[in-house]
Amino acid sequence: PYPTYARMRREAPVCQVDPGGMWAVSRHDDVVRVLKDPQRFSSQGFRVATNPPWLGGNPFSESMLTLDPPQHGRLRVLVQKAFGAAAMARLEPRVRELCRQAVADLPRGRPVDMMPPYALRIPAAVISDLLGLDSTRAPRLKQWADLITGGVTTVRPEEEDRKQRARDAVAELRAYFNEVLDERARTPGTDLVSELQQARVDGEALSRDELIAFMALLLVGGIETVVHLLGASLVVLREHPEVWAQLRVDRSRIPAFIDEVLRYEPPAQAAPRLTTEEVELGGVRLPRGAPVLVLLGSAAHDEAHFPDGDRFNLSRPGPQNLPFGHGIHFCLGAQLARMEGRLALEALLDAFRHLEAGPEPMTWHRTLVVRGPATL
Ligand code: HEM
Repeated sequence: PYPTYARMRREAPVCQVDPGGMWAVSRHDDVVRVLKDPQRFSSQGFRVATNPPWLGGNPFSESMLTLDPPQHGRLRVLVQKAFGAAAMARLEPRVRELCRQAVADLPRGRPVDMMPPYALRIPAAVISDLLGLDSTRAPRLKQWADLITGGVTTVRPEEEDRKQRARDAVAELRAYFNEVLDERARTPGTDLVSELQQARVDGEALSRDELIAFMALLLVGGIETVVHLLGASLVVLREHPEVWAQLRVDRSRIPAFIDEVLRYEPPAQAAPRLTTEEVELGGVRLPRGAPVLVLLGSAAHDEAHFPDGDRFNLSRPGPQNLPFGHGIHFCLGAQLARMEGRLALEALLDAFRHLEAGPEPMTWHRTLVVRGPATL
């Protein structure tokens, strides 16, 4: 499904997309090499990509995702426990319930765009729950997440109205998170925001800006990508009705299905980095300060690692971890994402005997980093 990536891997595995522009890295082993080397390939690349001067600041661009050691480790340690296996086991019944509710509310017997009521509703509800946010704001959360990421990275210089929408989203999101933090400071709960507010690193509490950056990261990381995992699961099932039939009789294959969807249609297609010194990669010399985009989507189809990689294969040996990155920034929510993917599909299998593609063609949502269905 990715002919351009295949051509890049063959002909120009490390190449500059336009003169003076980003460098793209498309082979699996080069991608891993970059992600394993934060000293030379800094995550400040995210900041450059998501915080243009016209925006006037973006909390997402200040989060730990954009930090290098040692600042990165100081923050990561704080949230690691909240996403560990024990925490996930505690969360599972609640996530199952949210998936069931979403599926129960789907209309029956007529075509429906599955993105808003299923693929979007589930991760937005899960992240609202985790952060203890008011669920009536869930639709706004996704719009904010879109606007502070794709809404920023795909704007052309003349698109003043889009720039204004992104600036408004940053202001609204900051105001809302400040409100939540004030309220939680008065009456702490058992949610992740309260936990972070009480957390101490070397005896020091996180600053207001650090807390807001964290919340913005979890919002984007937790919604944008899972939406597309759930959407891509349906795209695959539409292409392969026999897989739906297999999963109906053998639920134990669902985790393998989710892993193969992650590989076949990776929701996070790319991760930006910035070189801190001149460095050689795949036979190409990159200058210091070069913006680099590692193409996770391409790595996941690299025939050197995945024979017949453009084919969806439920029996492909897993697990597939590279779609969640590699090294110090490896996705904090990987277990949660897999769990949401599994439980959302289980809820569908429980409620429907079969799914049928509707009359409308699907459309793709495209940004610099995430990819998946926009309407389905
Ligand atoms: C980091 C992918 C779901 C939170 C990352 C990275 C990738 C990724 C590729 C590394 C980026 C880099 O190296 O620059 C995905 C995919 C998901 C998913 C494909 C779903 C299918 C989630 C969820 C959450 C989450 C559900 C939390 C609720 C994070 C955080 C980081 C991260 C906090 C930053 C970790 C760090 O900087 O140390 N994710 N993610 N992600 N993800 Fe996810």
